[in-house]
Amino acid sequence: MLDFLNQRRSTPLALLTEPGPQNDELSMILQLASRVPDHRRVVPWRFVVFLGAAKQQAAKLIGQRFLELNPKSDKSKADLESHKFSKSPVVIALVSSPDSTHKTPVWEQNLTVGAVGQNLLLASNAAGFAGVWLTCWYAYDQNIRQQFQVKGFEQIAGFFHLGTASEQPIERPRPNMEQIVSYWKPGLT
Ligand SMILES: Cc1cc2nc3c(=O)[nH]c(=O)nc-3n(C[C@H](O)[C@H](O)[C@H](O)COP(=O)(O)O)c2cc1C
Repeated sequence: MLDFLNQRRSTPLALLTEPGPQNDELSMILQLASRVPDHRRVVPWRFVVFLGAAKQQAAKLIGQRFLELNPKSDKSKADLESHKFSKSPVVIALVSSPDSTHKTPVWEQNLTVGAVGQNLLLASNAAGFAGVWLTCWYAYDQNIRQQFQVKGFEQIAGFFHLGTASEQPIERPRPNMEQIVSYWKPGLT
């Protein structure tokens, strides 16, 4: 487990190929992703899975919206936006769906959703798949949000692209622990 965590990396879209998790394996990954610390069990998240023809259709909407927002851009750029969405075998939108009337602060609910995101990547990796967590511009676009049936109070925490790594991604720099760890002492201000 320690080695697994020490080697964990996201896999760039360019290196994500078939196969992706399917059927029972995909259900298991979503179930494991949902085993998170969740103060007072609010369950402030939901998943939207994009597969097959529906994924292609969603990608087409992204391309069309890109052209609408960038009318001077050429179609090849819109196609690239589309392709980036549909390229990996499985795309999962993790939607933060907080209950603002709940005793548990929305901040804590959002932290729980972040934990779901990380668990989703870890569970995918543990099942032998690779993945990456991306938001991209369309996670924040009103039109796409509407087409993906995201409600006004919800946020797209990210799109999780899952598949198999065609090659292992190279390591990237990690935080300097001396800069982010301190040991509290009384009396320091
Ligand atoms: C909420 C969230 C949104 C992200 N959105 C993007 C994105 O839109 N584009 C991108 O290149 N990386 C994005 N990233 C970063 C990648 O998921 C990833 O952290 C990075 O590629 C290196 O990952 P690793 O440390 O897991 O290897 C996002 C990360 C998070 C947590």
